[in-house]
Amino acid sequence: VSNVMNQQIVLAQSPSGRVTLSDFALVTTEVPFRAADQVLLRNILVSVAPHQRAVMQEPTFRPRLVAGEVIPSSVIAEVVAGPPDGPAPGTVIAGTAGWEEYSAVRAATVRPILAGRPLVRQLSLFGLNGLTAYFGMLQVGCVRPGETVVVSGAAGGVGHLAGQVARIAGAHVVGITGSAEKNLILEKKLGYTHTVSRRSAAFPDDLRAACADGVDVYFDTAGGPILDVVLPLMATHGRIVCCGETSQYDTDQTSLPSPRGFSKSVITKSLRIEGFLVMDFSPQWGDALTRLRDWEESGQLAVIEDVRDGLDAAPAALVAMMAGKSVGQLVVRIRQEAGLQQKRETMFETL
Ligand SMILES: NC(=O)c1ccc[n+]([C@@H]2O[C@H](COP(=O)([O-])OP(=O)(O)OC[C@H]3O[C@@H](n4cnc5c(N)ncnc54)[C@H](OP(=O)(O)O)[C@@H]3O)[C@@H](O)[C@H]2O)c1
Repeated sequence: VSNVMNQQIVLAQSPSGRVTLSDFALVTTEVPFRAADQVLLRNILVSVAPHQRAVMQEPTFRPRLVAGEVIPSSVIAEVVAGPPDGPAPGTVIAGTAGWEEYSAVRAATVRPILAGRPLVRQLSLFGLNGLTAYFGMLQVGCVRPGETVVVSGAAGGVGHLAGQVARIAGAHVVGITGSAEKNLILEKKLGYTHTVSRRSAAFPDDLRAACADGVDVYFDTAGGPILDVVLPLMATHGRIVCCGETSQYDTDQTSLPSPRGFSKSVITKSLRIEGFLVMDFSPQWGDALTRLRDWEESGQLAVIEDVRDGLDAAPAALVAMMAGKSVGQLVVRIRQEAGLQQKRETMFETL
C-alpha cells in the first residue's frame, strides 16, 4: 500500500512513577505487512484498560512492553484483506491489536461481533470486560442469592457490570470506588445496595458497617491496601475472586507484600482464593453473551460507556482512568462508523 499510512500510539519510555502523557508518542508508519495467515484490520474502536499500564512495567499474560512498541488493545475493526478461509473483507470483527489505525493479526484470533448491537457495546458488555464480570462473578465467585458481595473498582468497566451480575443473582452488592459521584451512580442507577469510598479516612469502618454479616464474595480488581481491609471481613467459606490488581499497576515500585494476615484469614475461615483470566472460559463465551444480551434487553442490566474521539485522545484517557477519573467502559473511537463502505472501497483500490 503506497499512499496509505498508519498512525500509531507507541510507548515512548517506561513510566517513572505514575504514567503521564510524555510516556507516549504518536508516530506515522507504513501500513503493516499482512502475512498469509493474517487479516489486515482497519480499527474503528480501541479500548482503554489498566492492563495497558501494567504491561509497561512488567510481563503479564503477555511480554513487557518496550519503548517503540504499539500500546496493545482490544479493538473493533473492519477487515480490509485476509486469507480466503478467513472473514471476508468488510466484515466488522472483535480482536486484539493496538492503538493504531491499521493492524495485521492472525485471522484465527479475531471473532465475530454480536449482530444488531451498537459497536461500542462490543467492547463493553459484549467484550472482554462483560465476559470477565460474568465468569468472575458466577463461575469463580459462585455467588448465591442472599449473599453479600463486595466489588472494588465498582464503577469501572468490569466492576459496574460485575456488581449488576451479582445483583441479578440475588446478592446484596457493596461497591468500593474512589468518589462520592461514582457511588451515587452505583446506588441510583445500577442497584448497588451500599457503596463506600476507598479514599475516605473512615473506609475500613464504613466497609465493615456495610457488610454486617461478613463478605461472602469479594470481587477484587484492586489488590493492595483494599484487599488488606476486606480480608478480615470475609465470612466463613467466602470466596475471593482475583480479577485484577489495579492498585499496583501505576507505579514503578515492585508489588507490596500484601495482604497482611493472609494465611490466618484463609485458613481459619476456610476461604477460597482464585485467580482467572477471561480467556479461560472462551469455550463458554457464546452462552454468556446470550444471557448478558437478555439481561440488557429486559432492562435488568445497564451499561455505562465513556467514548472519547480520536486516536490521539487515547493516552489522556488511560492517564485519567488510572487516576480514577473514568466511569464505566472507557473506549476511544478512532474513526467514525458512518462511511465505512465508501472508505473501504477507496482502500481496496490501493491494495
Ligand atoms: N482477569 C481478567 O481476565 C481480567 C479481564 C479484564 C480486566 N481485568 C482487570 O480488571 C481490573 C479492572 O479493569 P477495567 O478495565 O474495568 O478498569 P476500570 O475499573 O474501569 O479502571 C480502573 C479503576 O481502578 C481504580 N483505581 C485506580 N488506582 C487505584 C488504586 N491505587 N487503588 C485502588 N483502585 C484504583 C479507579 O477507580 P476508583 O478510583 O473508583 O477506585 C479506576 O477507575 C483491572 O485490574 C484489569 O487488569 C482482568
